[in-house]
Amino acid sequence: MITRMVYTLVKQLSARVSSTQTSPIRKLIDMVNRTPNVIGLHAGDPDFDTPVCVIEAAKKALDEGYTHYTHTAGLPELREALAEKLLKENNIAADSETEITVTVGGFAALYSAFQTVINPGDEVIIAEPSWPSYKGFTKLSGGIVVPLQLEPPDYPLDVHSLTEKITERTKMVVINNPNNPTGAVYGPEQLRELASLAEKHGFLVLADEVYEKIIFDNTPYCSVASLSDMKEKTITVNSFSKTYAMTGWRVGYVVANKQITSGIRRIHSYVASCVSPAFQKAALAAIKACDDSVQQMVREYEERRNIVVEALNDIPLFQCIKPKGTIYLFPDVQAFGLPSAGVAEQILEKAKVATIPGSAFGSSGEGHLRMAIATSKENLLEAVKRIAGFVKTL
Ligand SMILES: Cc1ncc(COP(=O)(O)O)c(C=O)c1O
Repeated sequence: MITRMVYTLVKQLSARVSSTQTSPIRKLIDMVNRTPNVIGLHAGDPDFDTPVCVIEAAKKALDEGYTHYTHTAGLPELREALAEKLLKENNIAADSETEITVTVGGFAALYSAFQTVINPGDEVIIAEPSWPSYKGFTKLSGGIVVPLQLEPPDYPLDVHSLTEKITERTKMVVINNPNNPTGAVYGPEQLRELASLAEKHGFLVLADEVYEKIIFDNTPYCSVASLSDMKEKTITVNSFSKTYAMTGWRVGYVVANKQITSGIRRIHSYVASCVSPAFQKAALAAIKACDDSVQQMVREYEERRNIVVEALNDIPLFQCIKPKGTIYLFPDVQAFGLPSAGVAEQILEKAKVATIPGSAFGSSGEGHLRMAIATSKENLLEAVKRIAGFVKTL
C-alpha cells in the first residue's frame, strides 16, 4: 500500500525536477531564518536600503498607471537606457530593439538563456568555485555540467585547464566576473585567451556580470562581450539586485545577439510574461540617478572587506586573502582539519554565525567558507569575535 502511494507520488513529478536539487544556499537561508541569535553571513543580500529615488520612481509609476503587462522584452525607455549604459560603461554596442531583454532578476535571465541555447547532451563548462545555481540551470535544460576547477588562493581563470575540458559537445562556458564566492576579477588578458578559445572551438560564453560595479582597489573591469568578435558569441547577464540593493525588486537583463535574444524573449514570456512595469521604471531611475549611492555602498563594502580580512587573519586556523570584488570573503579554513561543511556547522552551532561551506560551490571550494560582508561593521566584528572565541576553545 505504502509502496504504491510512494510510486504514485513519484510519478507525479517530472524527471527534470528529480534531476535538480534545491540550492544549498537557499536551504541554509531557510534554516538560519528559523534559528535565533545567529549573525547571518550566509546570504548575498545587501543590507543597504534601496536608494530613495528608486522607491520614489516606483511610487510615481504606480500613480501614473504603470500597472499592466508590458512587452515581454521590457519598457523601451529602460532598454534604451541600458543600451547607453552598456556602450558607455562596458563598451558593448547592443541594439535596444533586438539585443536587450529585461528579465525577472538575473535568475530569469539565466534560466531563459540556458533554455534558449542548451540542448540535451550539450556540455556546459562552469568555472568553479561557482554560484551553485549554474548547475541547476544546466540540468534543467538537459545539459551536462563540466566543472573547471580553478586553483586557490586567487582562482585565476586557467585557460590551460579550460582547454583540456573542451570537447566536440562543449556548447557554452560560464564565467562569473567578479566571481561569487571567490571575489576574483578576471582581467582582459585572461578574457582574451578565453575569447580566442571560443573562436577556435565555436562555443558560447555566458558572462554573469551581476557584481560588475562592486570592485575594489581600482581594479580595471572588462566585459567579455566588448572583446573583438565576442559580442555575437557572448550572453551577458546583469541585474539591479546587488549594485543598487534591489534584490527584492526582481529586475535584471540579458544581452545577446538577435537570434538568441529572440529565443530568450520567447522563453521569458512563458516564465514571467514581463517584469512589473513600475519596477522597470524604478530600475530606470536607478541607472539614471544612483551613481553616488552605488559609490557609497562600494566604499563601505571595501572598508568592511579590509577590516574583516584583517580580523580573520588574526584568528589561528583562518587564512583570508583580500578579494578584488563582490560582497563575499572566501577564507581558507583547511587548518581545522575538517570538511568545510563540518566547519560551517560548528561555527553555526557554537559561535552562532552562519556561513556557507566552500564545498557548496564545487569541489575546488572545499577547505573554504563563504562569508558575506552584507551586514554592518558592528555585526561583522561581533561575528569575527564569536568565531575567535570558539576557536580558542578547540
Ligand atoms: C552570481 C550570481 N548571479 C546571479 C544572481 C541572481 O540574482 P538576481 O536574480 O537577484 O538578479 C546571483 C544571486 O545571488 C548571483 O550571486
